[in-house]
Amino acid sequence: MTDETAAAGAAYPGNRDPREMPTSFGFRTVREGEKQGMVNDVFHKVATRYDIMNDLMSGGLHRLWKDAMVSVLAPPHTPGRDWRVLDVAGGTGDIATRIVERSGREVEAVVLDINGSMLSVGQDRADKAGLSPFITFTQGNAEVLPFPDKTFDAYTIAFGIRNVPDIPKALREAHRVLKRGGRFLCLEFSEVEMPMLDKVY
Ligand SMILES: C[S@@+](CC[C@H](N)C(=O)[O-])C[C@H]1O[C@@H](n2cnc3c(N)ncnc32)[C@H](O)[C@@H]1O
Repeated sequence: MTDETAAAGAAYPGNRDPREMPTSFGFRTVREGEKQGMVNDVFHKVATRYDIMNDLMSGGLHRLWKDAMVSVLAPPHTPGRDWRVLDVAGGTGDIATRIVERSGREVEAVVLDINGSMLSVGQDRADKAGLSPFITFTQGNAEVLPFPDKTFDAYTIAFGIRNVPDIPKALREAHRVLKRGGRFLCLEFSEVEMPMLDKVY
């Protein structure tokens, strides 16, 4: 890189190395290249306590939000129908479990997460609940999905998209792996604009 191209890169954000671009991590701004490692550290540390932390931190509300997401998805109950959902950043398999149970164990779910610790807690949970034949746990990155084009009838991501450093890339991957007419559902926190309530939130 010459001095000129370096200067041009600095002047035009679109030319900058994306790993140098700022992105959010909790309430902090970090370089995009740093974010994934920091996110991974957090979830490795909390994996075995993640489910209980969710209950404590949301006062159990995360269960209602997740149930609402699965109601909107309305997975089919039709026996023998080949219907597959990919739950990205699926962690310990909370969403996949709900989807499979809601369908009367008639659909197949793939949980994809970048973090092996979260997945292994999920795999244990699925084994204990007798759900292993219906849920597959796969380690991978939302930005580079290890699946062929047009593989899934639905793509879900709950409280996960904010953790992905390059969100447009993850969305392109979602589009690629969805079948024609497939459904994309994203559950995520929004910002509360009401004074006082925003602090509580
Ligand atoms: C807040 S947890 C959500 C887990 C689950 N969806 C739920 O609602 O209980 C966020 C998850 O995103 C995963 N994650 C972070 N970056 C990722 C990436 N680039 N690709 C796939 N998963 C990622 C983390 O490992 C973590 O398990």
